[in-house]
Amino acid sequence: MKELSYLNKYFYKYRGRIVLGILFVALSNIFSIVQPILIKQTLDDVAAQIAAKHNKTTLILSDTLQDKVLLFCLLVVGAALLRGLFLFLMRQTIIVISRFIEYDLKNEIYAHYQVLDEAFYKTNSTGNLMNRISEDVSRVRMYVGPALMYLVNMFVMFVFTISAMLYSSITLTCIVLIPLPILIFIAYKVHDVINTRSESVQEKLSSLSSFVQETVSGIRVVKAFAREKQFETNLKQQSALYRKQSLLLAQVNAYFHPALTLLIGLSLTLIVYFGGLGVMQNKFTTGMLVEFVMYINMLTFPVASLGWVISLVQRAAASQKRINEFLKTQPSVQSKGSDAISIKGTVKFNRVSFAYPNSKTAAIKNISFEVKPGQTIAFFGRTGSGKSTVANLMVRLYDVSEGEILIDGINIKDIPIHIVRAAIGYVPQEVFLFSDTIKNNIAFGYTNASESEITHAAIAADVYQNIIGFENKFETLLGERGINLSGGQKQRISIARALVKNAKILIFDDVLSAVDTKTESKILNNLKPILAHQTCFIISHRITSIQHANQIIVLENGVVVETGNHQTLINNNGYYARQYQLQMEEEAA
Ligand SMILES: Nc1ncnc2c1ncn2[C@@H]1O[C@H](COP(=O)(O)OP(=O)(O)OP(=O)(O)O)[C@@H](O)[C@H]1O
Ligand SMILES: [Mg+2]
Repeated sequence: MKELSYLNKYFYKYRGRIVLGILFVALSNIFSIVQPILIKQTLDDVAAQIAAKHNKTTLILSDTLQDKVLLFCLLVVGAALLRGLFLFLMRQTIIVISRFIEYDLKNEIYAHYQVLDEAFYKTNSTGNLMNRISEDVSRVRMYVGPALMYLVNMFVMFVFTISAMLYSSITLTCIVLIPLPILIFIAYKVHDVINTRSESVQEKLSSLSSFVQETVSGIRVVKAFAREKQFETNLKQQSALYRKQSLLLAQVNAYFHPALTLLIGLSLTLIVYFGGLGVMQNKFTTGMLVEFVMYINMLTFPVASLGWVISLVQRAAASQKRINEFLKTQPSVQSKGSDAISIKGTVKFNRVSFAYPNSKTAAIKNISFEVKPGQTIAFFGRTGSGKSTVANLMVRLYDVSEGEILIDGINIKDIPIHIVRAAIGYVPQEVFLFSDTIKNNIAFGYTNASESEITHAAIAADVYQNIIGFENKFETLLGERGINLSGGQKQRISIARALVKNAKILIFDDVLSAVDTKTESKILNNLKPILAHQTCFIISHRITSIQHANQIIVLENGVVVETGNHQTLINNNGYYARQYQLQMEEEAA
């Protein structure tokens, strides 16, 4: 319950509706309680008439009685209709509240997802994150909606029904209530079993669906390696487990209803037997027996669902606990500083070292350099040498472990993250485009971009000709709903996306790897006027991409092993010069 108290702020938000809901609960119960009372009255009147006839005492006027019976019957129908109306209104208010809270909670979780940092996403699987916002939230909704509604309803109904019963007959009330605790206990136990079993059904189902999801997204690899048979066998095994668990669940469900009916039957038998004896001894009237039978019927459903409700609350508490853990997670990269800062573009790394949160060895060690607007710095080195790490630190996906990064002389930690990122045009190593139009993909970081700005960016990234070759040109849809682009086309759209922002700092992480050397030099040429004013980071394995940079830093295992411009590095005769030699020979061949 402690975990669920997190939701109180939402209850407070919708307090007006909640009060209304409770009012409807009370009204619907009032109208259900009058029915047995009316019926009892009617039956007792009729019985009195029969007895009078039998004893030859004065009869009530037959017509008057008939009218009275008719009136009472109509009242019963009226009460039933009103009860129905208020039940409807009760559901309409309380279930609607639960949908509102579900909506708010989803938004809250999603907003928090956006704040969390890269390290969080590396340690939590997508499936896990999806579950929090869908499955766990639905379980919480079952608590704020149905569970609370049933609990309130049950409480009100108990108070009303038991008061009415006590008013009518204390003895009969006791007889009716004897089997109730047993019923509640059994219902709770059964629901406990149902819960554990449905949890495991859920678990099996979710592993089954992640399995299918993975094979579908990796279907090309599965087919190319002719592994279909094994995957089919795997799926059969997983499905069989799921089936087994589902059958176990169906089994408890199958026991539950007969057991319930048995207990209700027991209650009824007790009432009819002891009540019948009482009627013969003139302690009770027949009307009272009928009244109590109706009460039993009214009480059974809420009591039987009590177990279900308890289990709903327990599951919601477990889900809310997981949600709270997420919401409490604070990003390690914190944004602070004045919003008035405007970035010009000088970047300085001062003895920067960094180790990824889950790794012990540093990815970069003691790196220092400075770049000014109009200059280009290049990073070169073997795979895994730490090049992308430099880019990750620049866009502040992580914070440095040691040393400092200064932008215009201000520590990057003291500039609000959104300002840093707005000043950077970043082309990541792994291209990601959204299932949206080409136009929207290019304007992603600068949604106010004009047609001509988008066109210019596309031209500079040398992808314009490709785009206008498509039937819908810039309106062409990409991804799942549209066409697929080649690796090189995707890279160039991703470059256009960074260029259109007209950012002060540009970072190209190995972005020309999927294009041929001719296209590469064309793009580099197009970039020249842009780079003349901006600070640029180029990461590449290809020397042709970086040879014109003002500064080239050669990394090996996160350490700077050589630095200087192209000519100095050639003269140095180290790794860079050897790679240059090799690449030139390849080119010539
Ligand atoms: N998210 C991460 N968590 C832990 N270690 C990481 C992570 N990303 C990279 N590393 C490690 O950091 C080191 C540097 O990686 P980085 O991505 O910077 O290399 P790179 O020079 O960009 O390589 P490539 O040329 O292949 O892109 C590698 O040893 C890598 O295993
Ligand atoms: Mg990399």
